Amino acid sequence: MSERFYYKGEDLFLARSSQDLELKKFADGHEQAFYLYDLEPFEERAQHYISCFGPEARIHYAMKANSHPEILKRARDLGLGVDLVSGGELQKALNAGFSREQMIFSGVGKSKKDLELALQDPISQINVESPMELDRIGEIAKSLKKCARVAFRYNPNVNADTHPYIRTGFKENKFGMDESFLPELTDLLKRHGENVRLVGLTLHIGSQLLNVDSSVEAVEKTIPVYRYFNDLGHKLESFDVGGGLGIDYHSDNYESEFQRVEEFARRVRPQLKSLGCRIFAEPGRFLVARSGILLAQVEYIKKTAYKNFVILNTGMHHLMRPSLYKAYHRILPLKKRAESSSFLCDVVGPVCESSDVLGYDVSLEGEPQQGDWLAILDTGAYGAVMASSYNSFSRELEVCIDLT
Ligand SMILES: Cc1ncc(COP(=O)(O)O)c(C=O)c1O
Repeated sequence: MSERFYYKGEDLFLARSSQDLELKKFADGHEQAFYLYDLEPFEERAQHYISCFGPEARIHYAMKANSHPEILKRARDLGLGVDLVSGGELQKALNAGFSREQMIFSGVGKSKKDLELALQDPISQINVESPMELDRIGEIAKSLKKCARVAFRYNPNVNADTHPYIRTGFKENKFGMDESFLPELTDLLKRHGENVRLVGLTLHIGSQLLNVDSSVEAVEKTIPVYRYFNDLGHKLESFDVGGGLGIDYHSDNYESEFQRVEEFARRVRPQLKSLGCRIFAEPGRFLVARSGILLAQVEYIKKTAYKNFVILNTGMHHLMRPSLYKAYHRILPLKKRAESSSFLCDVVGPVCESSDVLGYDVSLEGEPQQGDWLAILDTGAYGAVMASSYNSFSRELEVCIDLT
């Protein structure tokens, strides 16, 4: 059993710096599944990122991972900026108190309306993903009599070792631009003159990366592009190393994931220092995944000749990751059923899809009973933000914040 989650007698506890908490107490009184957020890991991880990259770096939290208002406010209080991907997220970031100077707008398909929102009072940086987008930004900035600060998202063609659905810096991905785009981008910068200013480069090669080598390779492949634009006289200010570093969903082994951030920073900082630029980073999952627990109740146990099913009041409509890319999450009962031995089952949801599985061949601590609560761990990133109302189930998950 891991350190952060452990059983005292039959009850599941969450270890925290101030006081360990019995999770059952949070479930009592709830009538539907809900996400419970503990902001302590988020805070610890943000501080780790800041200490690894140094005070002169700017860490922009990738709010697509979890845009709950309390998490955004905590990010702001910790001095992070924000990496957003839509006008909706921009508005949420404003509501949480981020200034426009703290905002970076990423994403491959920014609408005219969203760009107008970003440019009416210009935000710190817009990450550009195609020449057509740069052209649109230039036109909008001109009509608003503003100057757009842009960074080009470079596609370094690195085939990162992660699920293909979350690989983003490979030549076949829709994201970023490779060197074949450089002449056209240079022409467009000239054409849009004072309405567009190139201030940096950015890259992302994917998410849930467990090996730093590809991230370092991507940075090294992007450095010549930085020099190319600097040599053309563009006076770039920042180099954005992206996010993507993963967590170990199979255990509470924080050490290796903390070391990964350290190693990445140690390997890229000297190279970027020689460029004389400011480092930006855009982590999401690393900061917030460990902060979330999805708590759900058993509706039914169904035993067939082939499998046992534990059917919950939550599923792919609340946590899509397992059905979308067979992502793994540990699942633990809040109360061990010690009277029976371990119980092998598929933990599934109520949605009318066979892919609505939260865990395959899960070995639970004893056979659960109807009404028992289960905890699905490490669901702080890409959990509630991806929820839908498919089958017209409620997506209004009750969310508790900050367990102190
Ligand atoms: C725009 C953007 N921001 C941030 C990230 C990193 O997200 P995470 O750190 O959650 O993997 C990515 C990943 O590809 C991205 O494309």
